[in-house]
Amino acid sequence: MNDLTKAINLHLACEFQASHTYLAMSIWLREKDLAGFSSYMQIKSQEERGHADRLIAYLVDCDEQVELPAVEAPQRNWGSTQDLFDQVYELEKDVTASINRIYSIAEQAGERSATAMLDWFIAEQLQEEAEARFVRKRLRLAGDNTAALLLLDQQFLDGTALTTVKGGLTGLKQSEN
Ligand SMILES: [Fe+2]
Ligand SMILES: [Fe+2]
Repeated sequence: MNDLTKAINLHLACEFQASHTYLAMSIWLREKDLAGFSSYMQIKSQEERGHADRLIAYLVDCDEQVELPAVEAPQRNWGSTQDLFDQVYELEKDVTASINRIYSIAEQAGERSATAMLDWFIAEQLQEEAEARFVRKRLRLAGDNTAALLLLDQQFLDGTALTTVKGGLTGLKQSEN
């Protein structure tokens, strides 16, 4: 197995772990009756699975071997919604770092198809970090104000919570996974 294939297989663990962690977060939020935040994190969980699927498809298309990773049981409790979204932001930054590492390996190997495939992930991670940054900062503004927290939750239910986030390399919100 070459270094690039090894790195992509290792990165699969990042995506599966993020998917699992986001599902656990969605459950915790639902238990707190924060239905908007909960459904947002459930969608994020599905998106992370979609990211793993993209990488798996790439490996198969290149006739390279796929090794599915073990996924650890995620954390089940958070101190607050703020703590939870602070963790989302940190997790997304870790995923970005991992994508950047793979990108460097692909560049060094002169693997043009890999860098082309990874360009999508570079743009996606910028969008993901922008969203996570926005949500955690909005929560910080809400502070201990329950009415403000519930308003943010409602905005996620209405689909308006992230309409002003212009992440991604095109400056437009991406709708695809
Ligand atoms: Fe991802
Ligand atoms: Fe993500």
